[in-house]
Amino acid sequence: MEQYVIKGGHTLHGEVEIGGAKNAALAILAAATMTDETVTIENLPDVRDINVLLQAIEELGAKVNRMSPHKVSINGSFIRSYCVDNEFIRKIRASYYLIGALLGKYNNAEVALPGGCDIGSRPIDLHIKGFKAMGAEVEIAHGLVAAKAEKLKGTHIYLDKVSVGATINIMMAAAMAEGKTVIENAAKEPHIVDVANFLNSMGANIRGAGTDVIRIVGVSKLHSTEYAVIPDQIEAGTFMCAAAATGGDVLVKNVIPKHLEATSAKLIEAGCKIEEYDDAVRVIAPKRLTHTQVTTLPYPGFPTDMQPQMAVVLGIAEGTSTVTESIFENRFKYVDELTRMGATIKVEGNVAIISGIKKYTGARVNAPDLRAGAALVIAGLAGEGITVVDDIHYVERGYEHLEEKLRKLGAVIDKVSSEKELHKFILKVS
Ligand code: UD1
Repeated sequence: MEQYVIKGGHTLHGEVEIGGAKNAALAILAAATMTDETVTIENLPDVRDINVLLQAIEELGAKVNRMSPHKVSINGSFIRSYCVDNEFIRKIRASYYLIGALLGKYNNAEVALPGGCDIGSRPIDLHIKGFKAMGAEVEIAHGLVAAKAEKLKGTHIYLDKVSVGATINIMMAAAMAEGKTVIENAAKEPHIVDVANFLNSMGANIRGAGTDVIRIVGVSKLHSTEYAVIPDQIEAGTFMCAAAATGGDVLVKNVIPKHLEATSAKLIEAGCKIEEYDDAVRVIAPKRLTHTQVTTLPYPGFPTDMQPQMAVVLGIAEGTSTVTESIFENRFKYVDELTRMGATIKVEGNVAIISGIKKYTGARVNAPDLRAGAALVIAGLAGEGITVVDDIHYVERGYEHLEEKLRKLGAVIDKVSSEKELHKFILKVS
Protein backbone atom coordinates (compact mmCIF):
# COMPACT_ATOMS: atom_id res chain seq x y z
CA MET A 1 0.00 0.00 0.00
CA GLU A 2 1.48 3.32 -1.01
CA GLN A 3 1.54 6.27 1.34
CA TYR A 4 2.65 9.87 1.28
CA VAL A 5 5.10 10.78 3.97
CA ILE A 6 5.63 14.45 4.63
CA LYS A 7 7.95 16.46 6.80
CA GLY A 8 5.92 19.60 7.39
CA GLY A 9 6.86 23.19 8.04
CA HIS A 10 8.42 24.08 4.68
CA THR A 11 7.09 27.16 2.93
CA LEU A 12 6.13 26.53 -0.71
CA HIS A 13 7.84 28.77 -3.26
CA GLY A 14 8.16 28.78 -7.04
CA GLU A 15 6.06 27.76 -10.02
CA VAL A 16 3.77 24.84 -10.69
CA GLU A 17 2.24 23.75 -14.00
CA ILE A 18 -1.38 22.58 -13.89
CA GLY A 19 -2.59 19.66 -16.04
CA GLY A 20 -5.82 19.07 -17.95
CA ALA A 21 -9.14 18.94 -16.11
CA LYS A 22 -9.93 15.40 -15.03
CA ASN A 23 -13.69 15.88 -14.95
CA ALA A 24 -13.77 17.51 -18.39
CA ALA A 25 -11.45 14.88 -19.86
CA LEU A 26 -13.58 11.99 -18.58
CA ALA A 27 -16.66 13.28 -20.39
CA ILE A 28 -14.66 14.17 -23.50
CA LEU A 29 -13.17 10.66 -23.73
CA ALA A 30 -16.65 9.15 -23.51
CA ALA A 31 -17.94 11.59 -26.16
CA ALA A 32 -15.00 10.67 -28.41
CA THR A 33 -16.62 7.25 -28.98
CA MET A 34 -19.54 8.96 -30.74
CA THR A 35 -17.82 9.25 -34.11
CA ASP A 36 -16.45 6.61 -36.47
CA GLU A 37 -13.55 8.90 -37.29
CA THR A 38 -10.34 9.34 -35.29
CA VAL A 39 -10.39 11.91 -32.50
CA THR A 40 -7.19 13.21 -30.90
CA ILE A 41 -7.27 14.62 -27.39
CA GLU A 42 -4.41 16.57 -25.84
CA ASN A 43 -3.72 17.95 -22.37
CA LEU A 44 -5.10 14.75 -20.91
CA PRO A 45 -4.27 14.30 -17.22
CA ASP A 46 -2.38 11.06 -16.60
CA VAL A 47 -4.42 9.97 -13.57
CA ARG A 48 -6.07 6.74 -12.52
CA ASP A 49 -9.71 7.59 -13.38
CA ILE A 50 -8.69 8.54 -16.93
CA ASN A 51 -6.75 5.32 -17.40
CA VAL A 52 -9.66 3.22 -16.14
CA LEU A 53 -12.07 4.91 -18.53
CA LEU A 54 -9.69 4.51 -21.48
CA GLN A 55 -9.41 0.81 -20.71
CA ALA A 56 -13.20 0.51 -20.68
CA ILE A 57 -13.42 2.30 -24.03
CA GLU A 58 -10.86 -0.12 -25.43
CA GLU A 59 -12.88 -3.06 -24.09
CA LEU A 60 -15.89 -1.80 -26.08
CA GLY A 61 -13.78 -2.38 -29.17
CA ALA A 62 -12.62 1.18 -29.88
CA LYS A 63 -9.01 1.68 -31.03
CA VAL A 64 -7.22 3.63 -28.32
CA ASN A 65 -3.72 4.91 -29.07
CA ARG A 66 -2.01 6.54 -26.10
CA MET A 67 0.50 8.61 -28.07
CA SER A 68 2.04 10.06 -24.89
CA PRO A 69 0.92 10.35 -21.25
CA HIS A 70 -1.06 13.49 -22.17
CA LYS A 71 -2.25 12.66 -25.66
CA VAL A 72 -4.56 9.95 -26.93
CA SER A 73 -6.37 9.14 -30.15
CA ILE A 74 -9.60 7.17 -30.19
CA ASN A 75 -11.35 5.57 -33.13
CA GLY A 76 -14.87 4.40 -32.27
CA SER A 77 -15.63 2.71 -35.61
CA PHE A 78 -14.56 -0.65 -34.17
CA ILE A 79 -17.04 -0.57 -31.29
CA ARG A 80 -19.07 -3.79 -31.29
CA SER A 81 -20.20 -4.01 -27.68
CA TYR A 82 -22.33 -1.52 -25.77
CA CYS A 83 -21.79 -3.09 -22.36
CA VAL A 84 -19.28 -1.70 -19.88
CA ASP A 85 -18.72 -3.62 -16.68
CA ASN A 86 -15.52 -4.45 -14.88
CA GLU A 87 -14.29 -4.19 -11.34
CA PHE A 88 -12.44 -0.93 -12.07
CA ILE A 89 -15.16 0.92 -13.95
CA ARG A 90 -17.54 0.20 -11.08
CA LYS A 91 -15.31 2.37 -8.94
CA ILE A 92 -15.38 5.49 -11.06
CA ARG A 93 -18.24 7.90 -11.10
CA ALA A 94 -17.70 9.06 -14.65
CA SER A 95 -18.55 5.62 -16.06
CA TYR A 96 -22.04 7.13 -16.38
CA TYR A 97 -20.84 9.27 -19.30
CA LEU A 98 -20.64 6.12 -21.38
CA ILE A 99 -24.43 5.76 -21.03
CA GLY A 100 -25.06 9.14 -22.70
CA ALA A 101 -22.39 8.56 -25.35
CA LEU A 102 -23.38 4.98 -26.31
CA LEU A 103 -27.09 5.69 -26.11
CA GLY A 104 -26.62 8.81 -28.26
CA LYS A 105 -24.60 7.02 -30.94
CA TYR A 106 -25.89 3.44 -30.85
CA ASN A 107 -29.28 3.80 -29.09
CA ASN A 108 -28.07 1.12 -26.72
CA ALA A 109 -25.98 1.19 -23.54
CA GLU A 110 -25.39 -1.09 -20.59
CA VAL A 111 -23.08 0.38 -17.98
CA ALA A 112 -22.19 -0.66 -14.45
CA LEU A 113 -23.84 1.67 -11.92
CA PRO A 114 -21.35 4.37 -11.06
CA GLY A 115 -19.26 4.27 -7.92
CA GLY A 116 -16.69 6.95 -7.18
CA CYS A 117 -15.74 8.64 -3.94
CA ASP A 118 -18.09 8.08 -1.05
CA ILE A 119 -18.94 11.72 -0.42
CA GLY A 120 -22.67 11.22 -0.02
CA SER A 121 -25.59 9.71 -1.82
CA ARG A 122 -25.00 10.04 -5.54
CA PRO A 123 -28.19 9.21 -7.41
CA ILE A 124 -28.46 9.32 -11.20
CA ASP A 125 -32.23 9.84 -11.34
CA LEU A 126 -31.84 13.11 -13.26
CA HIS A 127 -29.69 11.44 -15.93
CA ILE A 128 -32.34 8.73 -16.28
CA LYS A 129 -35.17 11.26 -16.35
CA GLY A 130 -33.43 12.98 -19.26
CA PHE A 131 -32.85 9.77 -21.24
CA LYS A 132 -36.47 8.68 -20.70
CA ALA A 133 -37.76 12.08 -21.80
CA MET A 134 -35.85 11.54 -25.07
CA GLY A 135 -37.69 8.24 -25.56
CA ALA A 136 -35.26 5.71 -24.06
CA GLU A 137 -36.30 2.77 -21.95
CA VAL A 138 -34.06 2.63 -18.90
CA GLU A 139 -33.79 -0.24 -16.44
CA ILE A 140 -31.52 -0.88 -13.50
CA ALA A 141 -30.81 -4.54 -12.82
CA HIS A 142 -27.88 -6.64 -11.59
CA GLY A 143 -25.81 -3.52 -10.91
CA LEU A 144 -26.14 -2.27 -14.48
CA VAL A 145 -28.01 0.63 -16.03
CA ALA A 146 -29.48 -0.56 -19.32
CA ALA A 147 -30.77 2.12 -21.69
CA LYS A 148 -32.28 1.47 -25.11
CA ALA A 149 -34.19 3.46 -27.69
CA GLU A 150 -35.53 3.03 -31.22
CA LYS A 151 -34.29 6.51 -31.91
CA LEU A 152 -33.72 9.28 -29.35
CA LYS A 153 -35.93 12.30 -29.89
CA GLY A 154 -35.15 15.86 -28.87
CA THR A 155 -37.30 17.27 -26.11
CA HIS A 156 -37.57 19.85 -23.32
CA ILE A 157 -35.91 18.77 -20.07
CA TYR A 158 -36.00 20.66 -16.79
CA LEU A 159 -33.43 19.47 -14.24
CA ASP A 160 -34.94 19.61 -10.74
CA LYS A 161 -31.47 20.02 -9.29
CA VAL A 162 -28.37 21.55 -10.85
CA SER A 163 -26.28 18.52 -11.80
CA VAL A 164 -22.97 18.53 -13.65
CA GLY A 165 -23.19 14.85 -14.60
CA ALA A 166 -26.83 14.95 -15.76
CA THR A 167 -26.27 18.11 -17.82
CA ILE A 168 -23.29 16.61 -19.66
CA ASN A 169 -24.87 13.19 -20.10
CA ILE A 170 -28.11 14.56 -21.54
CA MET A 171 -26.14 16.97 -23.74
CA MET A 172 -24.13 14.06 -25.18
CA ALA A 173 -27.18 11.90 -25.85
CA ALA A 174 -29.04 14.85 -27.40
CA ALA A 175 -26.13 15.68 -29.73
CA MET A 176 -27.22 12.85 -32.06
CA ALA A 177 -30.93 12.73 -31.23
CA GLU A 178 -33.61 13.65 -33.75
CA GLY A 179 -34.61 17.32 -33.43
CA LYS A 180 -34.05 19.90 -30.76
CA THR A 181 -33.40 19.38 -27.04
CA VAL A 182 -33.55 22.16 -24.47
CA ILE A 183 -31.98 21.57 -21.03
CA GLU A 184 -33.23 24.02 -18.44
CA ASN A 185 -31.61 24.63 -15.07
CA ALA A 186 -28.41 23.23 -16.56
CA ALA A 187 -25.14 23.27 -14.62
CA LYS A 188 -22.67 25.97 -15.74
CA GLU A 189 -19.29 24.52 -14.71
CA PRO A 190 -16.32 25.23 -17.02
CA HIS A 191 -16.11 21.58 -18.00
CA ILE A 192 -19.68 21.70 -19.35
CA VAL A 193 -18.55 24.42 -21.75
CA ASP A 194 -15.46 22.35 -22.57
CA VAL A 195 -17.47 19.23 -23.41
CA ALA A 196 -19.89 21.31 -25.53
CA ASN A 197 -16.94 22.90 -27.37
CA PHE A 198 -15.48 19.45 -27.96
CA LEU A 199 -18.77 18.06 -29.33
CA ASN A 200 -19.22 21.16 -31.49
CA SER A 201 -15.71 20.65 -32.88
CA MET A 202 -16.96 17.18 -33.96
CA GLY A 203 -19.90 18.78 -35.77
CA ALA A 204 -22.53 18.90 -32.99
CA ASN A 205 -24.85 21.88 -32.70
CA ILE A 206 -24.89 22.93 -29.03
CA ARG A 207 -25.58 26.50 -27.91
CA GLY A 208 -25.79 28.09 -24.49
CA ALA A 209 -23.34 25.87 -22.56
CA GLY A 210 -22.15 27.90 -19.58
CA THR A 211 -25.64 29.40 -19.08
CA ASP A 212 -28.58 27.67 -17.44
CA VAL A 213 -30.35 26.94 -20.73
CA ILE A 214 -28.58 24.71 -23.25
CA ARG A 215 -30.06 24.17 -26.72
CA ILE A 216 -28.98 21.20 -28.78
CA VAL A 217 -30.02 20.44 -32.33
CA GLY A 218 -29.25 16.79 -33.04
CA VAL A 219 -27.03 15.87 -35.98
CA SER A 220 -26.87 12.50 -37.71
CA LYS A 221 -23.09 12.20 -37.74
CA LEU A 222 -20.09 13.48 -35.80
CA HIS A 223 -16.63 13.74 -37.31
CA SER A 224 -12.95 13.70 -36.37
CA THR A 225 -11.35 16.49 -34.36
CA GLU A 226 -8.23 17.47 -32.44
CA TYR A 227 -8.93 19.01 -29.08
CA ALA A 228 -7.05 20.14 -25.96
CA VAL A 229 -8.75 19.76 -22.56
CA ILE A 230 -9.03 22.90 -20.35
CA PRO A 231 -6.80 23.22 -17.26
CA ASP A 232 -7.95 21.60 -14.04
CA GLN A 233 -9.44 24.24 -11.76
CA ILE A 234 -9.46 21.88 -8.78
CA GLU A 235 -5.80 20.88 -9.12
CA ALA A 236 -4.99 24.60 -9.44
CA GLY A 237 -7.10 25.46 -6.41
CA THR A 238 -5.41 22.71 -4.41
CA PHE A 239 -1.95 24.22 -5.08
CA MET A 240 -3.32 27.68 -4.24
CA CYS A 241 -4.50 26.36 -0.87
CA ALA A 242 -1.16 24.59 -0.31
CA ALA A 243 0.62 27.91 -0.90
CA ALA A 244 -1.76 29.69 1.48
CA ALA A 245 -1.50 27.10 4.26
CA THR A 246 2.31 26.96 4.19
CA GLY A 247 2.80 30.74 4.19
CA GLY A 248 4.14 30.44 0.65
CA ASP A 249 4.42 32.36 -2.60
CA VAL A 250 3.50 30.24 -5.61
CA LEU A 251 2.80 30.99 -9.26
CA VAL A 252 0.17 28.52 -10.47
CA LYS A 253 0.63 28.28 -14.24
CA ASN A 254 -1.47 27.04 -17.17
CA VAL A 255 -4.82 27.99 -15.64
CA ILE A 256 -7.85 30.03 -16.66
CA PRO A 257 -7.97 32.59 -13.79
CA LYS A 258 -11.72 33.18 -14.31
CA HIS A 259 -12.41 29.54 -13.37
CA LEU A 260 -10.59 30.09 -10.08
CA GLU A 261 -12.44 33.22 -9.00
CA ALA A 262 -14.40 31.62 -6.16
CA THR A 263 -11.24 30.08 -4.67
CA SER A 264 -9.26 33.30 -5.19
CA ALA A 265 -12.02 35.36 -3.52
CA LYS A 266 -11.97 33.18 -0.38
CA LEU A 267 -8.18 33.17 -0.19
CA ILE A 268 -8.20 36.97 -0.44
CA GLU A 269 -10.73 37.09 2.44
CA ALA A 270 -8.35 34.82 4.36
CA GLY A 271 -5.61 37.41 3.92
CA CYS A 272 -3.74 36.18 0.82
CA LYS A 273 -2.65 38.42 -2.00
CA ILE A 274 -3.67 37.07 -5.41
CA GLU A 275 -2.14 38.32 -8.63
CA GLU A 276 -3.91 37.31 -11.84
CA TYR A 277 -2.12 36.97 -15.17
CA ASP A 278 -3.44 35.79 -18.55
CA ASP A 279 -2.90 32.12 -17.80
CA ALA A 280 -1.52 32.06 -14.25
CA VAL A 281 -2.33 33.16 -10.71
CA ARG A 282 0.16 33.95 -8.00
CA VAL A 283 -0.75 33.33 -4.38
CA ILE A 284 1.19 35.20 -1.72
CA ALA A 285 0.24 34.08 1.76
CA PRO A 286 0.16 36.40 4.78
CA LYS A 287 2.09 35.74 8.01
CA ARG A 288 -1.17 34.63 9.64
CA LEU A 289 -4.37 33.71 7.82
CA THR A 290 -7.74 35.20 8.83
CA HIS A 291 -11.09 33.44 9.36
CA THR A 292 -13.90 33.58 6.78
CA GLN A 293 -17.16 31.87 5.76
CA VAL A 294 -17.42 29.46 2.83
CA THR A 295 -20.52 27.85 1.28
CA THR A 296 -20.24 25.35 -1.55
CA LEU A 297 -22.54 26.00 -4.50
CA PRO A 298 -22.78 25.05 -8.18
CA TYR A 299 -20.49 27.14 -10.44
CA PRO A 300 -19.82 30.08 -10.28
CA GLY A 301 -20.17 29.40 -6.54
CA PHE A 302 -17.43 27.89 -4.41
CA PRO A 303 -16.74 24.33 -5.69
CA THR A 304 -17.56 21.43 -3.40
CA ASP A 305 -14.38 19.77 -4.72
CA MET A 306 -12.35 22.58 -3.06
CA GLN A 307 -14.18 22.42 0.27
CA PRO A 308 -11.78 20.13 2.23
CA GLN A 309 -8.66 21.97 0.99
CA MET A 310 -10.13 25.35 1.98
CA ALA A 311 -11.20 23.96 5.37
CA VAL A 312 -7.58 22.96 6.00
CA VAL A 313 -6.49 26.54 5.22
CA LEU A 314 -9.12 27.91 7.62
CA GLY A 315 -8.14 25.38 10.29
CA ILE A 316 -4.98 27.43 10.89
CA ALA A 317 -6.55 30.86 10.32
CA GLU A 318 -6.99 33.22 13.24
CA GLY A 319 -10.60 33.27 14.58
CA THR A 320 -13.67 31.16 13.87
CA SER A 321 -14.60 30.18 10.30
CA THR A 322 -17.56 28.26 8.97
CA VAL A 323 -17.70 25.93 5.99
CA THR A 324 -21.17 24.98 4.72
CA GLU A 325 -21.45 22.00 2.35
CA SER A 326 -24.60 22.28 0.27
CA ILE A 327 -23.94 19.75 -2.49
CA PHE A 328 -22.88 16.42 -0.90
CA GLU A 329 -23.92 15.42 2.62
CA ASN A 330 -20.94 13.25 3.43
CA ARG A 331 -18.05 15.54 2.68
CA PHE A 332 -16.72 16.11 6.20
CA LYS A 333 -15.16 12.68 6.62
CA TYR A 334 -11.69 14.24 6.81
CA VAL A 335 -12.62 16.17 9.95
CA ASP A 336 -11.81 13.31 12.34
CA GLU A 337 -8.44 12.86 10.63
CA LEU A 338 -7.69 16.57 10.81
CA THR A 339 -8.66 16.59 14.47
CA ARG A 340 -5.90 14.06 15.02
CA MET A 341 -3.55 16.70 13.65
CA GLY A 342 -4.77 19.20 16.23
CA ALA A 343 -7.62 20.93 14.36
CA THR A 344 -10.61 22.20 16.34
CA ILE A 345 -13.63 21.57 14.15
CA LYS A 346 -17.22 20.87 15.12
CA VAL A 347 -19.61 19.58 12.51
CA GLU A 348 -23.28 20.46 12.92
CA GLY A 349 -25.40 19.12 10.06
CA ASN A 350 -23.85 20.46 6.90
CA VAL A 351 -21.80 23.15 8.63
CA ALA A 352 -18.27 22.80 9.96
CA ILE A 353 -17.40 25.34 12.61
CA ILE A 354 -13.65 25.80 12.64
CA SER A 355 -11.75 27.48 15.48
CA GLY A 356 -8.38 28.23 13.99
CA ILE A 357 -5.29 26.80 15.69
CA LYS A 358 -1.73 28.04 15.21
CA LYS A 359 -0.31 24.89 13.63
CA TYR A 360 -1.20 21.32 12.74
CA THR A 361 0.90 18.57 14.25
CA GLY A 362 1.98 15.63 12.10
CA ALA A 363 0.06 12.35 12.51
CA ARG A 364 -0.78 9.16 10.65
CA VAL A 365 -4.04 9.79 8.78
CA ASN A 366 -6.24 8.08 6.17
CA ALA A 367 -7.40 9.73 2.97
CA PRO A 368 -11.17 9.16 3.05
CA ASP A 369 -11.69 10.31 -0.56
CA LEU A 370 -9.93 12.13 -3.39
CA ARG A 371 -10.20 15.77 -2.38
CA ALA A 372 -10.12 15.10 1.35
CA GLY A 373 -6.89 13.16 0.75
CA ALA A 374 -5.37 16.18 -0.99
CA ALA A 375 -6.52 18.35 1.91
CA LEU A 376 -4.73 16.10 4.42
CA VAL A 377 -1.56 16.40 2.34
CA ILE A 378 -1.85 20.19 2.63
CA ALA A 379 -2.30 19.88 6.40
CA GLY A 380 0.82 17.72 6.55
CA LEU A 381 2.81 20.27 4.54
CA ALA A 382 1.71 23.09 6.84
CA GLY A 383 2.10 21.09 10.04
CA GLU A 384 4.93 20.41 12.41
CA GLY A 385 6.72 17.06 12.17
CA ILE A 386 5.93 13.96 10.16
CA THR A 387 2.57 13.19 8.57
CA VAL A 388 1.79 9.90 6.87
CA VAL A 389 -1.23 9.82 4.57
CA ASP A 390 -2.61 6.33 3.92
CA ASP A 391 -5.01 5.23 1.15
CA ILE A 392 -3.45 7.55 -1.40
CA HIS A 393 -4.96 5.55 -4.23
CA TYR A 394 -7.90 7.95 -3.78
CA VAL A 395 -5.63 10.95 -4.30
CA GLU A 396 -4.05 9.38 -7.36
CA ARG A 397 -7.44 9.18 -9.02
CA GLY A 398 -7.27 12.91 -9.62
CA TYR A 399 -3.75 14.28 -9.11
CA GLU A 400 -0.83 13.61 -11.41
CA HIS A 401 2.60 13.38 -9.75
CA LEU A 402 1.34 15.37 -6.77
CA GLU A 403 4.42 14.64 -4.67
CA GLU A 404 6.83 15.59 -7.49
CA LYS A 405 5.08 18.90 -8.14
CA LEU A 406 5.10 19.69 -4.42
CA ARG A 407 8.78 18.76 -4.10
CA LYS A 408 9.64 21.23 -6.87
CA LEU A 409 7.99 23.90 -4.71
CA GLY A 410 10.20 23.02 -1.75
CA ALA A 411 7.99 20.51 0.06
CA VAL A 412 9.61 17.57 1.80
CA ILE A 413 7.33 14.74 0.70
CA ASP A 414 7.74 11.28 -0.74
CA LYS A 415 5.62 8.38 -1.87
CA VAL A 416 6.61 5.17 -0.11
CA SER A 417 5.33 1.64 -0.43
CA SER A 418 6.68 -0.11 2.66
CA GLU A 419 7.39 0.49 6.35
CA LYS A 420 11.08 0.18 5.47
CA GLU A 421 10.90 3.02 2.97
CA LEU A 422 8.88 5.06 5.42
CA HIS A 423 11.52 4.71 8.15
CA LYS A 424 14.27 5.50 5.66
CA PHE A 425 12.51 8.78 4.80
CA ILE A 426 12.04 9.65 8.46
CA LEU A 427 15.69 8.94 9.22
CA LYS A 428 16.79 11.04 6.26
CA VAL A 429 14.74 14.10 7.21
CA SER A 430 15.20 14.07 10.98
C1 UD1 B 1 -19.41 16.01 -10.57
C2 UD1 B 1 -17.94 15.81 -10.36
C3 UD1 B 1 -17.59 15.90 -8.89
C4 UD1 B 1 -18.12 17.21 -8.30
C5 UD1 B 1 -19.61 17.40 -8.63
C6 UD1 B 1 -20.14 18.77 -8.21
C7 UD1 B 1 -17.30 14.29 -12.15
C8 UD1 B 1 -16.90 12.92 -12.53
N1 UD1 B 1 -17.57 14.49 -10.86
O1 UD1 B 1 -20.07 14.95 -9.89
O2 UD1 B 1 -16.18 15.85 -8.75
O3 UD1 B 1 -17.99 17.17 -6.89
O4 UD1 B 1 -19.80 17.28 -10.05
O5 UD1 B 1 -19.39 19.78 -8.81
O6 UD1 B 1 -17.34 15.20 -12.96
N2 UD1 B 1 -27.99 14.66 -8.02
C9 UD1 B 1 -29.25 14.09 -7.96
N3 UD1 B 1 -29.63 13.30 -9.01
C10 UD1 B 1 -28.84 13.07 -10.10
C11 UD1 B 1 -27.57 13.67 -10.14
C12 UD1 B 1 -27.15 14.45 -9.09
O7 UD1 B 1 -29.98 14.27 -7.00
O8 UD1 B 1 -29.26 12.37 -11.02
C13 UD1 B 1 -27.54 15.51 -6.89
C14 UD1 B 1 -26.30 14.97 -6.19
O9 UD1 B 1 -26.63 14.05 -5.17
C15 UD1 B 1 -25.67 16.24 -5.64
C16 UD1 B 1 -26.02 17.29 -6.69
O10 UD1 B 1 -27.11 16.76 -7.44
O11 UD1 B 1 -26.28 16.61 -4.43
C17 UD1 B 1 -24.90 17.64 -7.62
O12 UD1 B 1 -24.35 16.47 -8.18
P1 UD1 B 1 -23.67 16.46 -9.63
O13 UD1 B 1 -23.41 17.86 -10.05
O14 UD1 B 1 -24.49 15.61 -10.52
O15 UD1 B 1 -22.31 15.75 -9.34
P2 UD1 B 1 -21.60 14.63 -10.17
O16 UD1 B 1 -21.86 14.84 -11.64
O17 UD1 B 1 -21.86 13.31 -9.58
